[in-house]
Amino acid sequence: MHSGKARAYTNIALIKYWGKADQAFILPMNNSLSLTLDAFYTETEVVFSEDYTEDRFYLDGHLQDAKATEKISMFLDLVRQKADSKLFAKVASRNFVPTAAGLASSASGLAALAGAAAEALDLSLTPQELSRLARRGSGSACRSIYGGFAEWQKGDSDETSYAEAIPSEGFAEELSMIFVVVNDQQKDISSRDGMQRTVETSAFYQGWLDTVPTDLSKAKKAIQKKDFQALGEVTEASALKMHGTTLAAQPPFTYWSAESMKAMSLVRQLRQEGLPCYFTMDAGPNVKVLVQKTHEKQVLQKLAEQFSREQLIVAHAGPAIQILPKE
Ligand code: DP6
Repeated sequence: MHSGKARAYTNIALIKYWGKADQAFILPMNNSLSLTLDAFYTETEVVFSEDYTEDRFYLDGHLQDAKATEKISMFLDLVRQKADSKLFAKVASRNFVPTAAGLASSASGLAALAGAAAEALDLSLTPQELSRLARRGSGSACRSIYGGFAEWQKGDSDETSYAEAIPSEGFAEELSMIFVVVNDQQKDISSRDGMQRTVETSAFYQGWLDTVPTDLSKAKKAIQKKDFQALGEVTEASALKMHGTTLAAQPPFTYWSAESMKAMSLVRQLRQEGLPCYFTMDAGPNVKVLVQKTHEKQVLQKLAEQFSREQLIVAHAGPAIQILPKE
């Protein structure tokens, strides 16, 4: 029997990953930059054994159906291939999220699976190799190998596409991200399908790609200088541009809901009132508000005037992936 267990934290992109150059290897069209957060994580244990006759996948204690298990099996095949193993596995994952508001993330899930499976089969991967492996499960997962800020270098092959930590000398620890969990869920288009449709059909997609390098260097400079305003401005601009591409896709779509717009307007209004804060959004209607810890309470209080306290979740910079002791 070979077992491994890992805990990985989710990350939110400040400069977004949006579009693939290669679907099978998950090579992105552009570099992205993220902040790993402490409030959401996944713990996964993987046990490979001669006794098993198939892969089994348990999520939060419940055995998953064939469709969900197939995705896990396809990922495990990559690990089995690397380790030259034919053993089936039992995978048990637990998502730790502050509410049941659909915030489970593929980034923490696939990073934890990669870490646990690699540990179980003694692959002894470097962080860079683990990042490459996690990328094969879900692109954004490659950034969850690191704590704090990380940049995913798009590369142009399986070997050259991985994330790296961006040291920030304590700047990441000065930040908070407040999740505004909105209730009016839009019809779901997964990030995978949404980005593919955009790459293939959106008239705005080239415009997105053209501005990423400048945004990325602005973000890295802002981190280096610990310039919150500059980081916030480019974070918001990147999210708006990413979401702009979806409106010109065929058929067009948006992840924004009325409640998302309410949250975004409020953030703009708070800025006008002199409270520095900026928003970002991913492939869903929730809004994430970037703020300095020093202003966290004030911004939270203002948000709580328009959203219930249960809709607001505060996160801070989170740690790198952890390999946990075997049970
Ligand atoms: C909008 O990593 O979920 O959150 O690689 O197809 O699994 P796949 O997509 P995923 O996409 C994340 C998209 C995003 C932006 C980001 O996290 O950079």
